[in-house]
Amino acid sequence: MQGCDGSVLLESTPGKASERDHPANNPSLRGFHVIDEAKAQLEAECPHTVSCADILAFAARDSANKVGGINYAVPAGRRDGRISIRDEASQLPLPTLNADQLIANFRQKGLSADEMVTLSGAHSIGVSHCSSFSHRLHSFNATFPQDPSMDSRYATSLKPKCPPGSDNTVPLDASTPNRLDNRYYTELKNHRGLLTSDQTLLGSPSTRPMVLTNAKHSSVWARKFAKAMVHMGSIDVLTGSQGEIRTRCALVN
Ligand code: HEM
Repeated sequence: MQGCDGSVLLESTPGKASERDHPANNPSLRGFHVIDEAKAQLEAECPHTVSCADILAFAARDSANKVGGINYAVPAGRRDGRISIRDEASQLPLPTLNADQLIANFRQKGLSADEMVTLSGAHSIGVSHCSSFSHRLHSFNATFPQDPSMDSRYATSLKPKCPPGSDNTVPLDASTPNRLDNRYYTELKNHRGLLTSDQTLLGSPSTRPMVLTNAKHSSVWARKFAKAMVHMGSIDVLTGSQGEIRTRCALVN
């Protein structure tokens, strides 16, 4: 993980597996063709000017606007990296981490605990493969057949969607799966967080007050989300003469 330099967009080459092919990203990451199409249009109009790293940051901004009505301006000028190493994606946080582990993971990139909780609100949209949470449903531990921090009716509703051995996908936020909003935090209050890394934010005393505030004040959360997205999009960027402006986002020039 090189930072916000589009390294995640690079395809593996013979003998050099890229971040895209780390199990944390493959098969989860999708929509690469959308970035490729934006890039093709930009190259046609204005060649060699807008980096893939900027396109990705703009796409995140436009998605937040489209599915959440959240508006923010993104500084531009990132340049594209030429390096992508599969094993570096192991720095990504696992869905099994607890709140303190998540705080430490985000801190390594300069993001605060409040930013981590605020950004986790992105799990208000999208899906997860069963493999990321099915251990919570089936033979959880010696004492509990399923994770006691998950509402039992919610667990019952998930089981048929994730029979052992399957790897289907289910919505991360069962209440408003296609809307970026603070209902994610209400769901956590109702013990309907899908991933351990979601539900732990309510369970841990260090993050619980943040969850409760975000659940209560939708516009406060939306403002914090916008700000944290801009901050996250500034991590380890390349500027000036560093890196390059790729011609195609999946390949170095
Ligand atoms: C707090 C630590 C985080 C963990 C442990 C985590 C983990 C995960 C996992 C396991 C999935 C499901 C992947 C799959 O099974 O296909 C997922 C999906 C997703 N995550 Fe996170 N994530 C975290 C933070 C974030 C942040 C900061 C954002 C963005 C601001 C984000 C945005 C998303 C989105 C939009 C999806 C749905 C993707 C889709 O529908 O294909 N996550 N995350």
